[in-house]
Amino acid sequence: MKIFLDSANIEQIRQAKALGAIEGVTTNPSLLAKEKGDWKKIVRQICKEIEGPVSVEVIATESAAMLAEARDLVKIAPNIVIKVPITIEGLKTIKELHERGIETNATLVFSANQALLAAKAGATFVSPFIGRLDDVGQDGMQIIQDLVTIFRNYELSTQILAASIRHSSHFHQAALIGADAITIPLDVLLGLTKHPLTDIGLAKFLADWAKK
Ligand code: G3P
Repeated sequence: MKIFLDSANIEQIRQAKALGAIEGVTTNPSLLAKEKGDWKKIVRQICKEIEGPVSVEVIATESAAMLAEARDLVKIAPNIVIKVPITIEGLKTIKELHERGIETNATLVFSANQALLAAKAGATFVSPFIGRLDDVGQDGMQIIQDLVTIFRNYELSTQILAASIRHSSHFHQAALIGADAITIPLDVLLGLTKHPLTDIGLAKFLADWAKK
């Protein structure tokens, strides 16, 4: 399972990169809006820092305007992936971009049917939002399970990118089910390193060593 950082903050991205686990970055308009400064400069900086795919979302809601934004975005760096909301206009955009050899990430996916359509249109990634489904009382992880089965049934090459990840149990389940990739905030990434027995064990080793 590839691990991406869900952040537009360059310090967080550097911190995650130093751990050696990050193979890409996902941003969204909310994450970029939190950062100070010119968003294009920030995106350029992220793309320099990370060799792998960097998802940046279009803001337009009509396909022609989405395509115009995508044309500008791909000029920023070769590793940009165009994030497109899974609407009718978004599907048209994904299809066009696929035909032009531009990678896409279908976002705001809340059902397996939406993801299957995005895959048919040629999306590189589909991003089901697990945490937001949990928030409304559904089992978000079920969509990952369904998509692994559906994409395997029809040998679809679109990658399942588990998104809206809130805790380490989401991470564990996505890996167990077989998501191709997961995007996580820095706090979830750091949380993955924690285990109380590691802390207790380390304290004991150091205490024993001090007595030597
Ligand atoms: O970037 C998309 C997704 O990961 C957003 O997560 O926590 O805002 O639901 P969240």
